[in-house]
Amino acid sequence: MTLFDTHAHLYDERFAEDLPAVLDRAAAAGVVGILSLGIDLATSRATVRLVADRPWLRAAVGVHPNESAAAAPGDWDVIAALAADPRVVAIGETGLDRHWDRAPFPTQEEWFDRHLELARRLGKPVAIHCREAEADVARMLRTHFDRHGPIRGIMHSYCGDAAHAGMFLAMGLHVSFAGMLTYKTADDVRAVAASVPADRLLVETDAPYLAPVPMRGKRNEPAYVAHTAARLADLRGVTTDEIGLITTANADRLFGRAG
Ligand code: NI
Repeated sequence: MTLFDTHAHLYDERFAEDLPAVLDRAAAAGVVGILSLGIDLATSRATVRLVADRPWLRAAVGVHPNESAAAAPGDWDVIAALAADPRVVAIGETGLDRHWDRAPFPTQEEWFDRHLELARRLGKPVAIHCREAEADVARMLRTHFDRHGPIRGIMHSYCGDAAHAGMFLAMGLHVSFAGMLTYKTADDVRAVAASVPADRLLVETDAPYLAPVPMRGKRNEPAYVAHTAARLADLRGVTTDEIGLITTANADRLFGRAG
């Protein structure tokens, strides 16, 4: 089994006690790569430190939309400097969120735009959070797409509808599925996941949040990406090994070969 967890937050305090054991379990489950993402300056710095002596881990740096109002004026320049580090293979977590009201929407849009520009300038993929804001994310991506062409990036933990997924795919993005895919009520997400072209498909945990069934309710960790991959394989009528190979090849193409 070969798997790539394209979205985790390994700096989280819930991993402080046992990160080496968490990573051992991931490796034992076949996880050959993990993209760990920061959500603000402190966690972006922590993420770059965390991957430093672990070549199979990759870092992304950025400011999450829900943290964008809390960022200090100078934070962006430091994020942009960190982003140039070769261990940083993606920009984010960025995006838009209308579910929580932690940052004014115009502030979220300004920060999302900065991330899109930086990612394009550095030639690195962008990791996009989208919660109840598919139309807004599509609108902003469209502006970049019309100006610059296809966008390298990931719609992370996708839970939007098929029509928006089609727009994101048409603009060049990958679509990544998380533990929600295994939840009883997620028929709509499963329908989208069944139809995404194989060469744009990714899997992730979003650890420590939202563990897949049968781990639901526990702390999520990268090893559990295997449960999401198994469900995805079932949906698509292929083996879990095949899903692992396809999604890992896609991740390697986006981030550069792990290891
Ligand atoms: Ni996240």
